[in-house]
Formats: sequence, C-alpha cells, structure tokens
Amino acid sequence: TEGEPIPHPPERWFIGNLGELDPDFAVSSIWKLADVYGPIYSLNLVTRRSIIVSNWELINEVCDDKRFEKAVTGVQDSLRVFIKNGLFTSYNDEDEWGIAHRALVPAFGPLHVRKMFSQMMDIMSQMVLRWDRFGPNRRISCHDDFTRLAFDVIGLCAFNYRFNAFYAEELIPFANQLSQVLIETGRRTNRTEIQNALAFLSKKEMMDNINSMWKVCDDIVADRRANPRPDVDDILNVMLSAKDPVTGKGFTDENIRYQLATFLVAGHDTSAGTMIFLFYHLLKNPETLQKCYAEVDAVLGDRPLTMDDVPKLKYIEAAMKEALRFLGPISLITRRAKETTMIGGKYKVEPTDSISLNLKGLHHDPAVWGEDCDEFRPDRFLNGGWERLPPNAWKPFGTGARACIGRYLAEQEIIICMAMVLQRFVVEMADPDYELKIKSTLTIKPDEFDIKVRRRPGKD
Ligand code: HEM
Repeated sequence: TEGEPIPHPPERWFIGNLGELDPDFAVSSIWKLADVYGPIYSLNLVTRRSIIVSNWELINEVCDDKRFEKAVTGVQDSLRVFIKNGLFTSYNDEDEWGIAHRALVPAFGPLHVRKMFSQMMDIMSQMVLRWDRFGPNRRISCHDDFTRLAFDVIGLCAFNYRFNAFYAEELIPFANQLSQVLIETGRRTNRTEIQNALAFLSKKEMMDNINSMWKVCDDIVADRRANPRPDVDDILNVMLSAKDPVTGKGFTDENIRYQLATFLVAGHDTSAGTMIFLFYHLLKNPETLQKCYAEVDAVLGDRPLTMDDVPKLKYIEAAMKEALRFLGPISLITRRAKETTMIGGKYKVEPTDSISLNLKGLHHDPAVWGEDCDEFRPDRFLNGGWERLPPNAWKPFGTGARACIGRYLAEQEIIICMAMVLQRFVVEMADPDYELKIKSTLTIKPDEFDIKVRRRPGKD
C-alpha cells in the first residue's frame, strides 16, 4: 500500500524546501518545523527526500539495526572531501570501515581508556595551572579553553603527540582551519550544484585549509615512523600494526591520515561543546552546582584525583548525562531504510530517503522524560532512573554499529575536567545575565559563554 502522506511544508519551484533551512543554522529550522508539522515530516532537498522524526516512538523504531542503517548524507557527505573513508564518514559498504572498527573498538574501550588517565591529568593540570595564574578577574572563554583541552587530550591519548594548545595565546591553527572548513561544508550542503559551482573562491580557500590539516596528520605519522615507540599501545600504533582478521588487510597510509583527521574532528568539538553546555547548566542551576561541589569534597577532599575516584563521581556523571540530554553537540543522527518499509505503521519510506532522528525531540519527549523534561535535573538519572529508561531513549552518542567510538574517552575526560576544576575553583559566569546563544557548525554549543574562576578558600 502507499500508506498515509507524510506532512511537509509547501515546496518551491527548483529549490524544493531548501529555502526552509537557515544556511548558517539548519538545525534550528528543523526544530521549528517539528513544532509546526509534528513528530514526522518530510523535506524535499532536491537531491533527496529527507524525513525528520522527532518523538521516542518513531525514533525507537528507526534505531532498529535490522531494518535501518546509518546514511552518510548532507553535511557528513560534504565532509568526505576532508576525512574521506575515516570511520565517521565511510559508507557502510567500504572495507575501511570494518577494518578500522574491528581494530579500534577495543583500543577505545573502557580498559584502554582507563590507561589514558595520567595523560588526561597532564593536560588538565596545564589548564588548571593557567586558570590559577590568570586570577579571579580574567574572563575565560569556555570555548577556547575546552577546545584546547579536547585537542590536547586526543593528541596525547591517541597519538602521544602534543599540540601544546595551552602554550599558545591564539587557538592552534588546526582548530581555526577546521571551523572554516565546517562552515564552508555546511553552506555547500544546503546550496544547489550551480550555487556551489559559483562559489569557487571559497572552495579554493577550503582546499588550502584541508591541505594544511592533512599535513599535520601526515607529520604525526611520519614522526612515529621515524621514531618508533614500541613502548606504547596508543591508537596510532594500533593503526600502524593492525592486521584485520576478516579481510587480512591493514590500514593504508592514506587511510591512517583520514582516521587521524577524523579523531581530531569528531573528538574535539563534541567534547568541548559538552563541557561548555555542562558548565552553562550548572551555573544556571546553582543547586545542581552545589551538589557537584559536595560530591567532589566528599570523594576527594584535598587529595589528588585518581582513576579509582572517577566511577565514584556519580552525581557529576549524571549531570554530564543530563547536559547531553538537554541539548548535546550532535543534533541529528541520519539513517535510511535498508528496504522499502512502513514506519509508525502507516508512513512509507524508501531506501533513497534519509531519515533524520531529531535528538532534541527525543530527549524532550514528555512520554519518556515526564512533564519536567524542560528542566535541568541530573537526579533523573540516579536511583535507578537510568535503568528504568525505555530502549533508545538517550542517544547523544548515536546508535547501533555506527555509534560513537570515542564515548568512553569523552566521558572520562569530562568527569575528570569537572572534578579538577571544582576541587580548586569557585566558578562564576563572566556575564551573570548571560542568555543561551547557540553557535552551530558540525556541532552546536553555547556561543560566547565565558566564566571567571577564583581559588576556593583553603584550597591552595
Ligand atoms: C560517532 C557523538 C566524542 C569519535 C559519533 C556519533 C555521535 C557522536 C552522535 C554518531 C554519528 C552518526 O550516527 O552519524 C559524540 C559526542 C562526543 C563524542 C556527544 C562527546 C561528548 C568523540 C571522541 C572521539 C569520537 C572523543 C574520538 C576519539 C567518533 C567516531 C565516530 C563517532 C570515530 C564514528 C564511528 C563510526 O561510524 O564507526 N559520535 N562523540 N567521538 N565519534 Fe563521537
């Protein structure tokens, strides 16, 4: 049967529904359209039909890996110009995905990530020392310092490479080049072919930026080949030595470049964005911040943090989960049906349609999260709250085989960051009446959110 028509906004000649999307903040348009057209609607994006699902019931269905799979479309597909067949943007049928997935899932697993503790502490200490020396009057840009932190953590933990971002007054060039490329790929995604062809100057600039970033990755690999480190089992060594049991193949040099670039892209902006959101929510909801302080004081007191403390910081972990629920850095997960099928029992979808899971809709569905779903309340995850959630209710790290490989690394990094900062500092908003403003690139995060920090009394 044909099923029922999927609601959609009126189309315009030639550009279909492209005009519905704000070119600099497409996700905000997706959210607004969901308010108008409901939990399922479609958009004609000229090259494909895009279906957006926004409640738990439909999203739970589309998470079924037997019927649906990741679709690399839109902004992710445009990113392939830079990170090609790296894990994040490889197509499901590319050999490189399986080779890398099998080799790297254990290398990013909880046991390996535990061993990264002292490297994470090395970087955190640099940040804390810097903040200490700034003193209480200096505005600290959460964006800049958490970007530095996230970059340095991946560099050191995954490749034993130091970007030394805290030693530079400006953000490291890689970070700026990447944001330029993300802005340009984002714009290219929501333009027609003709508009893109006309934008050749911005394309040249984009390729210059990409070449500089590839060089950073190639230099890291060349350095390791020239100076082998048989003493470490980091991600880079795993890639240099892996032999895949299924295909018998290893990683090619070219693919290692794209994987390195992938980890830097997928791993810095997301973690940094989550840390900014988390500080934003805690400062806006002072009772939750007080609970974090109380937990850090009870678990650590004045003693240095150890790896064994990390799993004991349950409230901080819940606050991190709550920040990721409320509004995480990734707003849409894009999938497609493996075969023509019906969703919600009545809407027909084809494999050529992309189906985007609207995570804001999922994470604020009152049917799952209750009437207080628009409040920041970490306690909802405690005392069995996490265990009581229905399947596929909390998806900030994506779903299925293509879910985030860096989840354990990110979670450990964020909890350590919170503990280190709160053990030492009273944290305040630099602008006490700051209202949330979102900056949107590949990810979303609070824009221009600055803090001030001063030593807690008796904590020197
Ligand atoms: C995939 C979120 C941190 C590396 C994903 C996906 C999401 C996500 C939603 C799935 C994307 C999709 O379905 O299209 C996050 C969040 C993070 C985070 C919220 C931080 C809080 C990291 C870190 C790394 C990383 C630190 C790096 C080391 C990756 C990779 C993939 C991925 C390689 C692709 C996996 C695959 O397709 O096989 N992430 N991520 N992420 N993430 Fe993360």
